[in-house]
Amino acid sequence: MLEMKIISVVGARPNFMKIAPFIRAINKYNKSGNLIDHVLVHTGQHYDYRMSEKFFTELGIPEPDINLEIGSGSHAEQVGNTMIKFEKVIREEKPDWIVVVGDVNATLACSVTAKKECVKCCHIEAGLRSWDNSMPEEINRLVTDRLSDLLLTPDRLSMENLINEGEKKANMVFVGNIMIDTLEYNRDKAKKLDCNDILAKNVLKSNEKKLDSFCSMKDYGLLTMHRPSNVDRKEILGPMIKWFTEEASSEIPVIWPIHPRTLKQVETFGLTQTLENCDNIILLYPIGYLELLKLNMHSRIMLTDSGGLQEECCVLGTPFLTLRWNTERPITLIEHGGVGYLVGNNIDNLRRDFNKVMNEDRNSERPELWDGNTAERALEAILSFDK
Ligand code: UD1
Repeated sequence: MLEMKIISVVGARPNFMKIAPFIRAINKYNKSGNLIDHVLVHTGQHYDYRMSEKFFTELGIPEPDINLEIGSGSHAEQVGNTMIKFEKVIREEKPDWIVVVGDVNATLACSVTAKKECVKCCHIEAGLRSWDNSMPEEINRLVTDRLSDLLLTPDRLSMENLINEGEKKANMVFVGNIMIDTLEYNRDKAKKLDCNDILAKNVLKSNEKKLDSFCSMKDYGLLTMHRPSNVDRKEILGPMIKWFTEEASSEIPVIWPIHPRTLKQVETFGLTQTLENCDNIILLYPIGYLELLKLNMHSRIMLTDSGGLQEECCVLGTPFLTLRWNTERPITLIEHGGVGYLVGNNIDNLRRDFNKVMNEDRNSERPELWDGNTAERALEAILSFDK
């Protein structure tokens, strides 16, 4: 019987899929007579029902024990406010370990605070590198990895990155990809959903008139986009939307669950009407995990700037175009056995690779240890670190 206290931290949407299997692993361990006292902290960076609570319900994550309610703001505001509030939590709870996942602002803020308070920190999803410091997530990854005591990596390329940065091998364990635990655990549940139902439940009010034609479609593509580098400048977002509405959607109907940041920018840049007038693109509010998994299973192509979706496409075999110039997840690309192309946001590249993907058949190879059992290996690594 081991007594240990772990605080795990979530803040934004992609964290929820990574923490759910970790909590299940703790519960399973505790059932065999052990005692890990687990405290779940939500920083509150994402707060809308559709960006947060819906995922807790769908993925069976218990309600957070503590919500720091930091909300939206600049990066400094989000990180600073999280640190101030999280420091108090650490002092009250006195954990043995703090576990952070992914690369959002919560990951950075809570790993720095953990180490300032001399608490051991474990980073799940360590070692990913885009080598692009203009990306907020890259800064979060670099700082978190530099400070963490235990680095749990999703693939061997990430191990190499850490070794090249001078990290000690003894502090690293290759555990696999924890997102895939969630995918495998929920695959059957997602399969049972109905695509038309997903559209009807989530369609933007202004797009309801397109529902009938989309509900009878046989083939479709999926689009998701929320990176500041794609959506925060009109000279980038404008031409992309022009290409989606005038070219891509004439090849295949496109379903676009739109992130609140992107929707706001579409409105600010006066692009709303262009999207509304395009019969072959339907906009949905942000959809749940199971809903997106279901749509992804049947999608002919995915256009995305999300890292997590690249990984899910790689396992499901959905060919994808990454709407970025770099990726911290090269293992998902064609050259490493995956199904994706890196195309950036240049329209000529988009056009070329879109046509290529639409006309080819490919199978992806599942990366090593993306087997649905990563969370248990992660917990085991924490327990053995202390021995
Ligand atoms: C954050 C993460 C990013 C992740 C993404 C997934 C960082 C640095 N970025 O980016 O890595 O891929 O989440 O979504 O942590 N908003 C709402 N409701 C919400 C949350 C946000 O309306 O529940 C709107 C607000 O206008 C907010 C904007 O979305 O200002 C951006 O949200 P923010 O959390 O700052 O960053 P994301 O772009 O979501």
